[in-house]
Amino acid sequence: MARHRGDKEDGLDRHMGLLKLVQILSFLVVFVAGIILGLATSSHINQYFTSQARLFFTNNIASTTITGGNCTILRPCKRIDCFGMDTFLHPKNLTHSMNDEELFWRASLMPTKKGYPFDRLPKVAFMFLTRGPLPMLPLWERFFRGHEKYFSIYIHTPQDYVLNVSRDSPFYRRQIPSQNVEWGTVSLVDAEKRLLANALLDFSNERFVLLSESCIPIYNFPIVYKYLIHSEYSFVESYDDPSRYGRGRYNRKMLPDIKLFQWRKGSQWFEIQRALAVHIVSDTKYYSVFKKYCKPACYPDEHYIPTYLNMFHGSLNANRTVTWVDWSLGGPHPATYNGINVTESLIQSVRNNGTECSYNSAMTSVCYLFARKFHPSALESLLNLTSTVMEF
Ligand SMILES: *[C@@H]1O[C@H](CO)[C@@H](O)[C@H](O)[C@H]1NC(C)=O
Ligand SMILES: *[C@@H]1O[C@H](CO)[C@@H](O)[C@H](O)[C@H]1NC(C)=O
Ligand SMILES: *[C@@H]1O[C@H](CO)[C@@H](O)[C@H](O)[C@H]1NC(C)=O
Ligand SMILES: *[C@@H]1O[C@H](CO)[C@@H](O)[C@H](O)[C@H]1NC(C)=O
Ligand SMILES: *[C@@H]1O[C@H](CO)[C@@H](O)[C@H](O)[C@H]1NC(C)=O
Ligand SMILES: *[C@@H]1O[C@H](CO)[C@@H](O)[C@H](O)[C@H]1NC(C)=O
Ligand SMILES: *[C@@H]1O[C@H](CO)[C@@H](O)[C@H](O)[C@H]1NC(C)=O
Repeated sequence: MARHRGDKEDGLDRHMGLLKLVQILSFLVVFVAGIILGLATSSHINQYFTSQARLFFTNNIASTTITGGNCTILRPCKRIDCFGMDTFLHPKNLTHSMNDEELFWRASLMPTKKGYPFDRLPKVAFMFLTRGPLPMLPLWERFFRGHEKYFSIYIHTPQDYVLNVSRDSPFYRRQIPSQNVEWGTVSLVDAEKRLLANALLDFSNERFVLLSESCIPIYNFPIVYKYLIHSEYSFVESYDDPSRYGRGRYNRKMLPDIKLFQWRKGSQWFEIQRALAVHIVSDTKYYSVFKKYCKPACYPDEHYIPTYLNMFHGSLNANRTVTWVDWSLGGPHPATYNGINVTESLIQSVRNNGTECSYNSAMTSVCYLFARKFHPSALESLLNLTSTVMEF
């Protein structure tokens, strides 16, 4: 019995010896291969650096006359601004070749260092999600006139649509790379995220308003700007609707990620602060659940952001919208106001109908800053009311 075991152990010893030898040999092979590989790469890197340095140096010589003769690669006579702060902070040109995945990743980058190494005047990003034309353009141009330092405009259109505006308009060249949108599908959320992401690339943007082509401003720019910039909260409508148009659109397949009690509904037309915009473009997990399980009669644009914010960032949300809309006619679509309907008293009642709402820790009669839906035929009447009613 014992002998038998001894034999076995001898065999095992020999076997172990052989294993060790193989191990050492393979280690040596890997080691030598590593050295060879290392040498090869470092010579590549050297070559790369020399060629970069040469490029840099030649550029340098070409672009400056060297004085004094103390120029080195480390201390060049004239610095070439390859990573300019200005274009990094405020991209001038909205055209880029990033796809959504690349764009959302870039937009999700957040500084961790406190303060800014530049004077940061916080701006409001006005993001227009359109089917193409902007019928209210003259009204908005009048609204923005004279306040250029305080806002940026972003326009999402159908993919191949070219918006024709004059060079001196604040809307000139503000179209972002867009894709076609199918109303009622998750592609609408994609377009919202695309607007947010493009706007996030400008580090001065602090508040982000989503608007449609049928939206109008009902206060002047200084009031709108102060209201948004000084708000502690974002304005995303988010409520629990127990009916079939609310909870009825929840899908149990969303479990365990999203539970019924977390499910919320709200208007698509949101206004959010920078931190929330970053969270929204960064989310993949919950977005994917909506993409998979929220299909008509579930509409992602009415549920995704309200639900997501309720789950994780409810404390930053005022849970109400600043975009007024008239549902009083009933049915699936809100009322559209045309030229005949637009009167001074209509706009006055939208600005203040006697109801108050909370703003930071106080109450205010200013509950809405924007209103929808306005038909193109309402433009002339609205332009007639700007100086007397809207005060711009
Ligand atoms: C070049 O470097 C020397 C020594 O560091 C210094 O004395 C001299 O002022 C420098 N010349 C220029 C033009 O910077
Ligand atoms: C900006 O984008 C346009 C395309 O719309 C392009 O033709 C132009 O060269 C770009 N301008 C700059 C300064 O990059
Ligand atoms: C753009 O608008 C201007 C003036 O409104 C007009 O003259 C021009 O033909 C338009 N261009 C296009 C491509 O529609
Ligand atoms: C909005 O709702 C959230 C719950 O999602 C709540 O925590 C928050 O206090 C509400 N905001 C305000 C201003 O009441
Ligand atoms: C607009 O006016 C027309 C004609 O008076 C009326 O039929 C319609 O209901 C009005 N629309 C709204 C939204 O008030
Ligand atoms: C004022 O507007 C709010 C919100 O649209 C509405 O709930 C309320 O009933 C209106 N009040 C009056 C007096 O019309
Ligand atoms: C707008 O004002 C002008 C000049 O006061 C007037 O002629 C025109 O009829 C008004 N248009 C509307 C739609 O109220």
